[in-house]
Amino acid sequence: MEHKIKVCMGSSCFARGNMNNLDYIESFISENNLEAKVELVGAHCQDKCESGPHIFIDDKEYDEVDEEMLKDVLENLK
Ligand code: FES
Repeated sequence: MEHKIKVCMGSSCFARGNMNNLDYIESFISENNLEAKVELVGAHCQDKCESGPHIFIDDKEYDEVDEEMLKDVLENLK
């Protein structure tokens, strides 16, 4: 896999937006046929709920992630 996306699935991040963010990422991967290139995994609470929801892409951390941010960031994985 060329890229790894890790989505915090702890209850805080999940409630604060990662439920929708996960849907968005899954759709993006399938619409762009990136299944062979991008690995998508979940993570436990990362102990930084206050700045969540958190997503990690190739070990870079993104805070307060929303769809707008994902649109930009995911384009770079194509
Ligand atoms: S639930 Fe994501 S950092 Fe705590």
